[in-house]
Amino acid sequence: MSEEFGAEYWEERYRGHSAVHSGRPNPQLVAEAGDLAPGTALDAGCGEGADAVWLASRGWRVTAVDIAATALRRARERAETLGADVAGRIDWAQADLTGWTPAEEHFDLVCAHYVHPAASREALFRRLAAAVAPGGTLLIVDHHPSHPQTAAAHASAPKAHITAEELAAGLDPDRWDIAVAEARTRTATDHHGHEITLHDAVLRARRSAA
Ligand SMILES: C[S@@+](CC[C@H](N)C(=O)[O-])C[C@H]1O[C@@H](n2cnc3c(N)ncnc32)[C@H](O)[C@@H]1O
Repeated sequence: MSEEFGAEYWEERYRGHSAVHSGRPNPQLVAEAGDLAPGTALDAGCGEGADAVWLASRGWRVTAVDIAATALRRARERAETLGADVAGRIDWAQADLTGWTPAEEHFDLVCAHYVHPAASREALFRRLAAAVAPGGTLLIVDHHPSHPQTAAAHASAPKAHITAEELAAGLDPDRWDIAVAEARTRTATDHHGHEITLHDAVLRARRSAA
């Protein structure tokens, strides 16, 4: 069996289902980035691309990175169906984020939604934070420890859970303003069409301008 949260795990997960995610943008992204002026964005662990597509359709120039080739192929195909305006604003890249360092202080928005790599998540989030340009925004959404479905689904549940406070603790208070650090619940529909409650940890932080 492949290592949980390793490259093969994600690839098998995508190959095993015709569409793993809903195709709709993450509601936390819509709530937190909807008012931001479009610029450059990095979507780390973009999956099937719904968030990257949403950003591009609002004028963002997006770099969307994922480890899973199948997810990226679906994401690219979906963007292409929406036309050159959207597809042309997204650069898709297959990379392992645990060994990939984005350009420092480069992006107006860096987001990562439910990315739990097999290797150190803290190191990954440090590199993602370093990629935010002065005045830019870091948005991290992950499963909160109170999230019951994920706790049952993953043998390595602790790797898939984090609080917003733990996320915020990795940011230097002299360089970051924490705009949002909270737990939120929302309803979604699972693969079987059942309504489920998701418990998210949401961190939105703004990097100091200077
Ligand atoms: C739970 S999915 C979430 C996908 C997307 N962000 C969303 O919210 O729909 C996690 C994604 O992170 C990707 N991922 C996990 N570990 C990764 C790594 N080390 N490097 C790049 N991508 C990774 C997976 O392939 C998967 O697409």
